[in-house]
Amino acid sequence: ASDVYKRQPNNLMQNINSYIKEHKQRFLDELIAILKIPSISADSAYKADVLETAKVIKLSLEKAGCEHVEICETDGYPIVYGEKIIDKSLPTVLVYGHYDVQPPDPLDLWLSPPFDPVIKNTELHPDGAIFARGACDDKGQMYMHVKAMEYMTANNELPCNVKFMIEGEEEVGSVNLSKFVAANREKLENDVILISDTGMIAKDVPSITTGLRGLSYVEVEVTGPNRDLHSGLYGGAVANPINVLTKMIASLHDENNHITIPGFYDKVENLSDAERSEMAKAPFSLENYKDALDIDAVYGEEGYTTNERNSIRPTLDVNGIWGGYTGEGAKTVIASKAYAKISMRLVPNQDWEEITTLFKTHFENIAPKGVKVKVNPHHGGQGYVTPIDSIGYRAASKAYEETFGKTPIPQRSGGSIPIVSLFEEELKSKTILMGFGLDSDAIHSPNEHFGVWNYLKGIETIPWFYKYFTCLLYT
Ligand code: BES
Ligand code: MN
Ligand code: MN
Repeated sequence: ASDVYKRQPNNLMQNINSYIKEHKQRFLDELIAILKIPSISADSAYKADVLETAKVIKLSLEKAGCEHVEICETDGYPIVYGEKIIDKSLPTVLVYGHYDVQPPDPLDLWLSPPFDPVIKNTELHPDGAIFARGACDDKGQMYMHVKAMEYMTANNELPCNVKFMIEGEEEVGSVNLSKFVAANREKLENDVILISDTGMIAKDVPSITTGLRGLSYVEVEVTGPNRDLHSGLYGGAVANPINVLTKMIASLHDENNHITIPGFYDKVENLSDAERSEMAKAPFSLENYKDALDIDAVYGEEGYTTNERNSIRPTLDVNGIWGGYTGEGAKTVIASKAYAKISMRLVPNQDWEEITTLFKTHFENIAPKGVKVKVNPHHGGQGYVTPIDSIGYRAASKAYEETFGKTPIPQRSGGSIPIVSLFEEELKSKTILMGFGLDSDAIHSPNEHFGVWNYLKGIETIPWFYKYFTCLLYT
């Protein structure tokens, strides 16, 4: 097999399209079976399901031709590892993905149950889309790699070595994976890391993700009086923690929607005008954007476009806020405590731990007399940017050219995959983010879905990446 790479890519892969055609139904059925297991990593009630999913993934890697497939235990959910080493002198691709999913709530907004996958047509997916939690993020996208692997091994088309590492804690911060990576550097040695856990601009506008934002996630707690109080007897005379919390949160942005935390922007990289105008070339319709979300205007930091606001600029958002009475009818009460969960999306160079400290200090500083404030950091991670002249990027670009007939556009994403920067630190390799989801696929939302066309296009494109990566490394 070691001379496979010497063959030219154009002579290969004649069969990928016919293989997909022939096995399409099975590819869908297998994914649907995986989507049926509610592998919600955030909720311990689903522990058995998360563990069961790991076993199913292990089996699927074995069937796809991986060897030494194992379930690697961690202090949390296990990592499924498998590899196929055909020749140590050939390059090695490390595939990463996650088998855990976000909680599906609010359940009543799902048109079909989140763990009972159905295929329905939509305007953007006239060939059908699979509706289920995890369809796009990330079971569907992860499984494209398993099926691409199956194709390559079944047809003797695997041009290099492969390692698979599929984890079960991405949606809760990958804390145990970080330890696993640091402790297994040799085992995970590779020439490039390949991930499908992002999106692309549109089905006719392929793109490769070249950046991810970092993240700092904190929970805050404001405590007023030692018990809930009658809002008539005490109202107006003591600090109401909910009033105070909302006021404190409101003060975190100024009138231009800049974040007011001292030092927050110190390390933010300012893109040159040239880079910004390059970014602005990506096709984007503000009208369609607003229509898709049913909003009459966009909102954000003064001086930046929508695409800049959601990719190259840092943000601060409340993700949840609670306290007091929220049941039916009215209850006259001043709650003793109020809470909020806050995420800050960061850009490369901002250090997430430093930002967490800046937030904590500032939030404690702005607390008025009469309340106590606690800031509890959750998790976080660094942002990531990758150049477009690396062999990995060029290989991916050529792969898309083969299957989309177009050169993909490099695009920085607003989402986060914190482990990616750690991969670079620990394993010294670049990550290529070949995402096939659409922003409208509703990841983390009710009615998450993944286009059947996108799923199959991913399976078709991935083997080309292997071929070009191997060829480019040897020429
Ligand atoms: N796959 C997403 C991240 C993503 C989606 C990046 C689309 C770019 C485009 C990932 O599963 C995710 O949701 N990450 C979390 C962070 C994590 C620490 C919980 C996120 O971005 O909120
Ligand atoms: Mn994901
Ligand atoms: Mn996610």
